[in-house]
Amino acid sequence: EKGGYDHFMLKEIMEQPQAIFDSMRGRLDLEKLTITLSGIEQYAEQICKANRIVIVSCGTSWHAGLVAEYLIEELCRINVEVEYASEFRYRNPIINEGDVILAISQSGETADTLVALENAKSKGAIILGVVNVVGSSIARLSHAGAYTHAGPEIGVASTKAFTAQLTVLELIALKIAYIKKSIDDDQYAHLLNELNAVPDKVQAILDSQIPKIREIARKYKDARDFLYLGRGYNFPIALEGALKLKEITYIHAEGYPAAEMKHGPIALVDENLPVVFVATKDRYHEKIVSNIQEVKARKGHVIAVITEGDEVSKQLAEDYIEIPEADEIVAPILSVIPLQLLSYYIGVERNQDVDKPRNLAKSVTVE
Ligand code: M6R
Repeated sequence: EKGGYDHFMLKEIMEQPQAIFDSMRGRLDLEKLTITLSGIEQYAEQICKANRIVIVSCGTSWHAGLVAEYLIEELCRINVEVEYASEFRYRNPIINEGDVILAISQSGETADTLVALENAKSKGAIILGVVNVVGSSIARLSHAGAYTHAGPEIGVASTKAFTAQLTVLELIALKIAYIKKSIDDDQYAHLLNELNAVPDKVQAILDSQIPKIREIARKYKDARDFLYLGRGYNFPIALEGALKLKEITYIHAEGYPAAEMKHGPIALVDENLPVVFVATKDRYHEKIVSNIQEVKARKGHVIAVITEGDEVSKQLAEDYIEIPEADEIVAPILSVIPLQLLSYYIGVERNQDVDKPRNLAKSVTVE
C-alpha cells in the first residue's frame, strides 16, 4: 500500500509530479492557451466585480491561501484577505451579499473552516471551494469551485495536497486574470507554459537532490531550533517549511519574511542555529542575499534553497539545495519540495513516527 516506500509521507512526496499534472489535466490546454474551470467560469462575473476575496483555511491550506493572495492581487488586481478560519468565524466578520469567500481544504471536513463558511453563506456570500476530497462537507457546502486531484493523502502532514492546491490556485488566478484582461497575452501564454513545466521540474528535484538533503538532515538532526526565511512568493513557503519541521521532527521552528529578521528574530542567531533560506532567483534575490550575509556574520548555519546555477548563493551558503529555474509565480510549488524532504529525513533520523505525529489527526473535525 505504501508502494514500496517506508512511509506514506515519502510516497506522497514522490507522487507530486503526478498530483500536479492531474490537477491541470483537462483544464490547462497549452495549444489553445485556455484554462477550463467550469465552477469558476460560472461565477466569473461576480469574482471579477468583487471588492475583495476572502480566503478561509487552516494550517498548510492557510499557507496555500497566502500564496494565492500574492497571485490574485498581482495577476487579477483584486484585493485579497487571508484568514485563519478559527479567527474569522469567532469575530463576527463583516460579510456583505455577493462577497466572494474562497475556502481551501484538503479533507473538506475541517470544523473551523466548515463553520466559518456556513456563517458566511448564511450572510449571502458566494462560497468557492478548493478541496481534495470529493463530496466532502466543504465541497457540498460550496456554491462552486475546483477540486484538487491529489488523490488520497494518508500521511498526517500535508504534502501533495499542498502542491495540488497551489496548482489549482494558479489556474484560478490565471483564469480570472485572462477574463479581466489584467495581464497581457504574452504574459498569460508565458505563465501557462511555466505552469505546464512544473511536474517535470518537481521530478528533477526528486531525482537529483535527495542525497544532498539526507546529508543535511543528518547534520542538523539534533538542532534545537530552526529558522525559515523567505520573501515574496517564498514567504509562505518559509512558514510551510517550519510547520512541516515541527510536525514531523518535533524540533521547534519558526518561519518569517526574511526582512522581518532584523525586527527581532536575528537575536536568536548564533553558532547553534540553522537558518533555512528559500532564496530562489526572483525580484527579491539581492535582498535575500544580504539577509544570508547577516546570518553568516553572526555564525548562523545557512541552508539555502537556490536556483540551479546561482553561483553567488552557492558560495555563500554552508549547504544548498538546487531547484530548476522557474518564474517566481510558480516557484513556490518547486521550493517547498526540498523543505518537505528535509523534514521527512530529519524525522526518520530521529526515529519519529512520520506518518502519524503525536497529538495530530489527519482532519481536525473538532473546534
Ligand atoms: O484538511 P484541511 O486542508 O482543511 O486541513 C487543514 C490543516 O489541519 C492541515 O493542513 C494541517 O495543518 C496539516 N497537518 C499540515 O501538514
